[in-house]
Amino acid sequence: MRLVVRHGTVVTPHGRLEADVLCADGRVEALLAPRAFAEAEEEVDAKGCLIFPGFIDPHVHSRDPGQTDKEDLAHSSRAAACGGVTTICEMPNSLPPVTSAAEYEARAAFHAPKAFVDFALWGLALGSQNLNDLAGLVEAGAVGVKLFWGYALNRQTMQLVYNLDDLPAAEVIPPPDNREVFELFQEMARCGGLLAAHCEDRGILEAAQARLGRQPSSYDDLLLARPALAEQLALAMAVELAQATGCRFHAVHMSSRGSVINAREAQARGVRISSETCPQYLTLTRADYARIGAAMKVFPPVRDHADQEALWEGIRDGTICSVGSDHAPHTLEQKRLPLAAQPAGAVGVETLGPIMIDAMLNGRLTAERLAEVLSEGTSRLYGLYPQKGALLPGSDADLTVVDPDRESTVLNEQLHSKQPLSPWHGCKLKGRIRFTVLRGHVIMRDGDLIGAPTGELVRTQRRATPTLQPIQPVSGS
Ligand code: DOR
Ligand code: ZN
Repeated sequence: MRLVVRHGTVVTPHGRLEADVLCADGRVEALLAPRAFAEAEEEVDAKGCLIFPGFIDPHVHSRDPGQTDKEDLAHSSRAAACGGVTTICEMPNSLPPVTSAAEYEARAAFHAPKAFVDFALWGLALGSQNLNDLAGLVEAGAVGVKLFWGYALNRQTMQLVYNLDDLPAAEVIPPPDNREVFELFQEMARCGGLLAAHCEDRGILEAAQARLGRQPSSYDDLLLARPALAEQLALAMAVELAQATGCRFHAVHMSSRGSVINAREAQARGVRISSETCPQYLTLTRADYARIGAAMKVFPPVRDHADQEALWEGIRDGTICSVGSDHAPHTLEQKRLPLAAQPAGAVGVETLGPIMIDAMLNGRLTAERLAEVLSEGTSRLYGLYPQKGALLPGSDADLTVVDPDRESTVLNEQLHSKQPLSPWHGCKLKGRIRFTVLRGHVIMRDGDLIGAPTGELVRTQRRATPTLQPIQPVSGS
């Protein structure tokens, strides 16, 4: 099948180009000079639009299998397609979690028939419990291994225990201690995989909660109980461990100014550390809780304006190379509970692209940086480049086509997640995603999903990343 996308402007981190994109058999065949002759069965008119390499959401909790009352992959991947995301990286804390190569292969086979977009899989680090399985996970093609630092596990289900008071001590496996964490860094350095972590130091959280002396009943309380210090301390430890072991470390969902400063400084020293943030930390602050409520309760929490500004600066100067949604739905009933009892997690895979595009059109970042943090930077980080995140001849023909002159409004009732409860409900956004193209097929057109699920597993490539050739328009054949 040949598809040509006409009259648009191709955007990559390296620049923009007026070019028609010719796709054949699922791959990019060529970037053609505008209106050059091309033989194709299908044509998309992208007049006035920006054509990005398909967006990648590296941080999605579809909770499938295990907690499918909250979400499942059929819903999250449909939502992804509608939000211009062509690849999701699925988090491993499902039931059972992805803790070995065998689980990885089983999960890939389980998801494939339901996936509307391509998907990659994370592995889960359980401390000494599965230390010897991590190399196999990396070898199989997991994008990384995730440590929920400081979280205990339910002995029976292997589910993460978010609140240690929820279960009797005998029923939980305590969080990995520093010895186990050190061994984890050493093992990931040895096998060459990427280690990522949820950074919030358990000791600091416990001390802050004890000092507060009551369950948080307001958002200000919640921030007192989960201070930025908890994130910064975990990150500082990760920096030391990465430096000592040579392990590649990635801080997911970074939320605070102090962490951006620490990460920048460590990168300048040559420590192999990278970082991610999410639209909720980039667009919301504590003041928004009064208006939004439970939909924006996430861990680590959304903080202050100064944090937000520092995160944008981190995106602009490259300290932060990837933006993900941390799509983590809970049921509406759970989200209606009082603040302290609401589970943390926000619905976000469908709004990742639209929120970042709105930010771009408001001058927060350039289109080139957007292409980096939503496509190429993410793809390189996870070893998916140049199959994903690039518009080079031979790359998968994944495209996100954006009309900057239209507008869109986020409405819960129009979202495709199983539990549509967006922190941005009611927000009017600049820009509109018109088409999502997955491996040369239009899977979303003007908000309508087209066709059956055709998503496939993408494995991390463990070879050296090739050097990028600058894109050049060529004449059609
Ligand atoms: O708010 C969060 N929710 N943060 C996490 O790190 C986990 C996530 C979840 O799975 O609900
Ligand atoms: Zn997460």
